[in-house]
Amino acid sequence: MSRGGRIISIEGVDAVGKSTQSLRLQTWFKRKGVKVTALSFPDYETPIGREIKAFLAGKRAFQAEVRHMLFAANRWEKLAEIKESQIENEVVIVNRYTESNLVYGVANGLRLEWLAALEQGIPKSDLVMVLDAPSKALTSRRPGPKDSYEKDHELQFRVQSLYRELAPKFDWIIVDGSRSVRGVHDSIVEVVKSSLDARLRARL
Ligand code: TMP
Repeated sequence: MSRGGRIISIEGVDAVGKSTQSLRLQTWFKRKGVKVTALSFPDYETPIGREIKAFLAGKRAFQAEVRHMLFAANRWEKLAEIKESQIENEVVIVNRYTESNLVYGVANGLRLEWLAALEQGIPKSDLVMVLDAPSKALTSRRPGPKDSYEKDHELQFRVQSLYRELAPKFDWIIVDGSRSVRGVHDSIVEVVKSSLDARLRARL
C-alpha cells in the first residue's frame, strides 16, 4: 500500500528562487491532473513561527541551538498538517524543509547528527532539489528588508558550500538556479520526471 503523497523539497540559499519555482512546479503538476499542494517552512504564523520571526528580525538573542530547535519545532507543530497533506495529495511540494535545518545549523557551528535527531519522526522528503547559484548578488536580487540570516554574507557563503558538500551524502539533486525562471523550471521538471516512482511518472 502506498503511504500517499510524495514529498518534494525545494532547497537552496536565500533568494535563489525557491518560492517562484515551487509555485511553477505546483502549477505544472496541476496541469497534469496530479493532486498537489504546497507547504513552506518556516511557517511564521504559528506560535513558534512568531518566535522564529522575532529572532530573525533581531528581537531575540537566542543561541544557535535554540534557533535551530525552534526551526525543527516549527515542523513538529505542523506534523498533523504535513501528514494530512500527504494523505490528501499525490505530491506535496515543500519550500524549505528538514534539509534547511541541517545545512543552516551546520553553517552555524552545530553538529549534523544533533540536527538530524531533531527531525526524526518528521516525514522524510522523497526528492530534494537544491537550487544552486553564485551566492554573491543573490540576496540583493530580492527587494525589501533582509532578516539576520540574509544579511550575513559569510553565512550565505557557507550555506551554499554545505548544500554542495552534503548533496551526495543525502542524494540531494543540485539544479543550476542561475538561469532564467523558465530554464530552471525545465530542469526541475526533468529531475521530477526521472526521479519519481513509475506509477506517478506514467502520468506526467
Ligand atoms: P526564509 O527566508 O525562507 O523564510 O527562511 C528564513 C531563514 O531560516 C533562512 O535563512 C533559512 C533558515 N532556516 C533554517 O535555518 N532552518 C530551517 O529549518 C528553515 C525552514 C529555515
